[in-house]
Amino acid sequence: MFRLFHGVMEQAQQSDVQIGAKLIRIHFHSCFVEGCDGSILLINADGIESEQDADPNAGSATGFEVVDDIKAALENACHAVVSCADILAIASQVGVSLGGSDWEVELGRRDSRTANKAEANTALPSLFDDFDELTHSLSAMGLDSTDVVALSGAHTFGRAQCGTCSPCLYNFSGTGGPDPTLDSAFLNTLWQICPPSNDGDPMTDLDSSSPDSFDNNYFTNLQNNQGLLRTDQELTSGTPDFSQLVRRKPERVL
Ligand code: HEM
Repeated sequence: MFRLFHGVMEQAQQSDVQIGAKLIRIHFHSCFVEGCDGSILLINADGIESEQDADPNAGSATGFEVVDDIKAALENACHAVVSCADILAIASQVGVSLGGSDWEVELGRRDSRTANKAEANTALPSLFDDFDELTHSLSAMGLDSTDVVALSGAHTFGRAQCGTCSPCLYNFSGTGGPDPTLDSAFLNTLWQICPPSNDGDPMTDLDSSSPDSFDNNYFTNLQNNQGLLRTDQELTSGTPDFSQLVRRKPERVL
């Protein structure tokens, strides 16, 4: 079965290097709304308001067509055996392995028959959150600051629209200037990639040192004050024992 996932995703990766990143983000956004039940995959229908239209997802959660391709290939090989929720978990694991890392994924998730767009709007952490707001929103899910750091480590690959980091570049907390904690060379680079006009909606790497690898450079970047999103940048100063923590190996999975 894993070979089937690899086949579909390697094919998709040839035209979209971000596909692993896109799929693990979908999995995270699904898990934060009433558990890892694949509810984000449900589209608008009678009695269903799709979570895909919620603010944290609309226009930025993408890659659903590859989930459809995996589902079609699975149904062809073994009908009605693998839940869509497990498809997201396995696709995340395979996406990470294509990026050069790995974990053992546990299976057995059941699919939701309903979506909860309202909760997708409130439960998912916001990119405008400061450290306290971020930990507060994740503690509602039973996650502590160690989990916040570990999970944010997924920002070691993939891209963000410049609009998501612009507040930190040009008007941090209403100051009219950049986040003063950001490394100046990093800031200069970002000013070039993401000009204030935001013309053409440019994208930038979440991990500028190795944008497509799933490695620990994200944490090295943070130690060098090169966190792209506010929620990334604040992990270093906000997390107790940050530097010891980032040397530990992961123990838990979504
Ligand atoms: C801790 C709070 C988090 C916030 C505020 C946050 C926010 C964001 C934002 C704003 C983007 C850019 C989206 C865009 O511009 O289209 C992004 C991208 C991404 N996020 Fe997060 N995120 C968080 C945690 C996570 C977690 C826990 C995961 C997975 C376990 C994750 C995985 C990703 C990935 C892989 C991308 C790149 C997607 C791509 O290349 O299309 N994020 N995130």
